[in-house]
Amino acid sequence: MFKKDFPYFNNSKTVYLDNAATTQKPQCVIDSQIEYYEKYCSNTHRSNFGHANKATINFEKTRTLLKEFINASKNEEIIFTKGVTESINFIANSYAKNFKTVIISSLEHHSNIVPWHMQKRTLGNGLEVVRCNNNLDFDFEHFEQILKNNPKSFVSVTHISNAFGKIYDIKKITELAHKYDAVVMVDGAQSLAHLKVDMQDLDVDFFAISAHKTFGPTGVGAIYVKEKYLKEIEPYQTGGATIDEVTFNTSTLLDSPYKFEAGTQNIAGIIGFGKALEYLNIIGYENIQIVENDVYRYLDEELRKIPKIIFYNDINDSIGSRSFNFEGLVHDDIGILLDKMNIALRVGHHCAQPIMKQLNVKGTIRVSIAFYNDYNDVSELITALRKALQMLDA
Ligand code: ALA
Repeated sequence: MFKKDFPYFNNSKTVYLDNAATTQKPQCVIDSQIEYYEKYCSNTHRSNFGHANKATINFEKTRTLLKEFINASKNEEIIFTKGVTESINFIANSYAKNFKTVIISSLEHHSNIVPWHMQKRTLGNGLEVVRCNNNLDFDFEHFEQILKNNPKSFVSVTHISNAFGKIYDIKKITELAHKYDAVVMVDGAQSLAHLKVDMQDLDVDFFAISAHKTFGPTGVGAIYVKEKYLKEIEPYQTGGATIDEVTFNTSTLLDSPYKFEAGTQNIAGIIGFGKALEYLNIIGYENIQIVENDVYRYLDEELRKIPKIIFYNDINDSIGSRSFNFEGLVHDDIGILLDKMNIALRVGHHCAQPIMKQLNVKGTIRVSIAFYNDYNDVSELITALRKALQMLDA
């Protein structure tokens, strides 16, 4: 029903089920970027001629749209980055480095693990990992124990696991963390494609956002920074567009968000991201969830009919992604055969090696859907999976 808005589906017969890696882009997102390059390509926040002003207005319009989209309280709280990885690295290096202990969960993507390893190595900061049980549920008792032993720590957890689609209760995590004077950052890479997020309701301190996983362009992301931190956080990179005044001896910085956005930004990408948000506003999360949940449940039911399938979590408290293996088979072999049958999905560790090690697997087969996927996609996947299993004599 929604595929007609996405040119990829007119141009390709591929059954696209790799939305956790990146989503397809609606025509309006593509057009807005072409229009910028063809009709008013200019830099933002610098020159003062017609096209430059238009570029600045459209660029800043995305900031306002995003602020409203996630219910932040001010535009200044929205800082553009090149993606969630940069958002996390920015906060790690400009703020979280001052904390003695960082607390993460077992389900983190490498982007929310490796920056903390670097700080452990260079600064000697502590890193604690909250356990999850067999259904990949967040272990709140363990979390509280860690918080009791490490008050005033920095908590950095995912909202939705990229590898398994598991949703963590961020509101509950934040309430508990704040009780122990901890600060909370959320990896929201997978969130906006599936769920409405509300900064006032979640009460998080930082929230990392990806445009390309939200039907927008690659190379664009953002970090929401709660207003109370904006003054004390120093930028971790500086340069043109971040300063108020510079002499040979000293420089003074602009206020947020500009002090954090050094250099020329991905202007076309940010304008395109605004169009993706406008598009999602028109469709509405209510509609997205009705369609998507229906397909997600159908996917789960159909997969369960295949013998020897192994899941690692049930679909309650999960969204978007379904990860599995087949007894005695290597996930890579299935991936190669599915590719030959025009099914696009990801097999492997999904940049989440620690949880794979904990589950004693090298990786999984991950089907990740978006609201434009339909029953037909699931049927084609199931037929292809059955063929692949036959070929592998399973
Ligand atoms: N983080 C992306 C994924 O899960 C690339 O595939």
